[in-house]
Amino acid sequence: MLHLTSVDLKKAKIETLAIPVCEDKDIHDDKLIKALIKKAMKLKEFNGKKDQGVTLYDLPDVNARRVVLQGLGKLEKIDCEALRSMAGKTVTECIKNELSNVWIVVPEAKKINLEIPVVLEAMQEGAYLGNHIFDKYKGDKKKKVLNQINFVASPAIVKKFGRLPSQVTTVCQGTILAREWVSTPSNEKTPVKLTRSIVSLAKKARLKVHILTEKELKQKKFGALLAVAAGSQSKPSLVVLQHTVKGAKKTVALVGKGVTFDSGGLNLKTGSSMAGMKADMSGAAAVAATLISVAKLKKKTNIIGAIPIVENMPSGMATRPGDIVKSFSGKSVEIGNTDAEGRLILIDAMSYVIKKYKPQILIDLATLTGACMVALGEKIAGVFSNDDTLARAIVESGEKTQERCWHMPLPDDYKDLLKSDFADLNNISSTRWGGAITAALFLSEFVEDTRWAHIDIAGPAYINKASAYCGPGGTGFGVRLLMDIFDKI
Ligand code: BES
Ligand code: MN
Ligand code: ZN
Repeated sequence: MLHLTSVDLKKAKIETLAIPVCEDKDIHDDKLIKALIKKAMKLKEFNGKKDQGVTLYDLPDVNARRVVLQGLGKLEKIDCEALRSMAGKTVTECIKNELSNVWIVVPEAKKINLEIPVVLEAMQEGAYLGNHIFDKYKGDKKKKVLNQINFVASPAIVKKFGRLPSQVTTVCQGTILAREWVSTPSNEKTPVKLTRSIVSLAKKARLKVHILTEKELKQKKFGALLAVAAGSQSKPSLVVLQHTVKGAKKTVALVGKGVTFDSGGLNLKTGSSMAGMKADMSGAAAVAATLISVAKLKKKTNIIGAIPIVENMPSGMATRPGDIVKSFSGKSVEIGNTDAEGRLILIDAMSYVIKKYKPQILIDLATLTGACMVALGEKIAGVFSNDDTLARAIVESGEKTQERCWHMPLPDDYKDLLKSDFADLNNISSTRWGGAITAALFLSEFVEDTRWAHIDIAGPAYINKASAYCGPGGTGFGVRLLMDIFDKI
């Protein structure tokens, strides 16, 4: 569906040709494209400003029905994200106009001071991700996605980077899979249903799958995880997905928070704060989708995904505030607040993975705290780590993929805030300040000497309003980020 080709624009019969235009510099080599831009720039309504667009029809110079010119703004402001957005917007506009395909011209990388593969990758990502609509539950599926997206480049580039579209497609399919899982309503993804869905797709991707059922979780004493699941009618599970490579030297473990709905439990959330809580399994969705993409792309590292799946509900069986449970690690935890449930399922999954698989690196993804959203807003994730090099690698991948991450502190002395009078730890802090940090510190008590990073994705996992290449709902945040990290750590 994504193609990279070179064509003779004079002759090729094209429905829609899209051209990115820089406001203050020529960024194309092709003479014909230059002429088209010159023509458009003469119009009052178009000068290449960011997000400005104009459509010209039936021009004599080309055999394209319509030529869409999309402004990128000034040269100094053009980066990968500007290109990703431009491609995404072009595709969403085409969908709106009920078109079925598009040809997007790739600008000259050196003229915008970027590398060729970086330009290609960003544009292909924006286009592929923009070409998705979550309309599974709509009766009349009014909008139809494009069935073909073509990128126009020189023959030399097509020859050299011909394999890129299929790689980008696999990663973006992972992002879209995660988006769909997150957008699915909680009644359609109870722990039992979500477990089945993940397991069936993982098996199709030929991952090794290991499921710990409620019975096994009880036998193996996953006390913290089970305490969260206690109030729900749907049984919990821990799903472990394994990608193993012969001769690989390193094992990276990923753990993703899979709370299919977070009502808060007996510490019930208010109506407005409960509203978005179907997305509380976004970490799980990202980890599962990443493993599926990893298997398809045959990554060279051993990668393990551990996904604890529960629903946090109030009931006569539910865990009470003040209850004390024994975690898988053996440490006891006082549950000061049943709404701080994410950290409880994560510690058991993390301890299990460390004990059983002894990974060199462990990364967890979780919609863990509202406090992280207060700190960083809705678009940036918080990274907490016991290893600065690992944190830096994550922040760097975040810059490249535009799944942005900010390195946050893990101050040792704040650990005092998690003291309990009766148990080894309390699951909530004794102060309301620094909630994202104390949540991360709680997790840090269970990682032993493993190189570990925690990514709090409470903000960027979900959007209520469409962006350039993501509709309202789950964003799939984490898949592109993690896929980029494996090659660096
Ligand atoms: N799932 C929430 C965190 C969250 C909040 C995610 C908003 C996305 C948007 C988490 O389980 C939670 O309830 N955290 C509490 C922790 C508190 C009880 C210590 C919070 O942030 O208020
Ligand atoms: Mn909660
Ligand atoms: Zn939660």
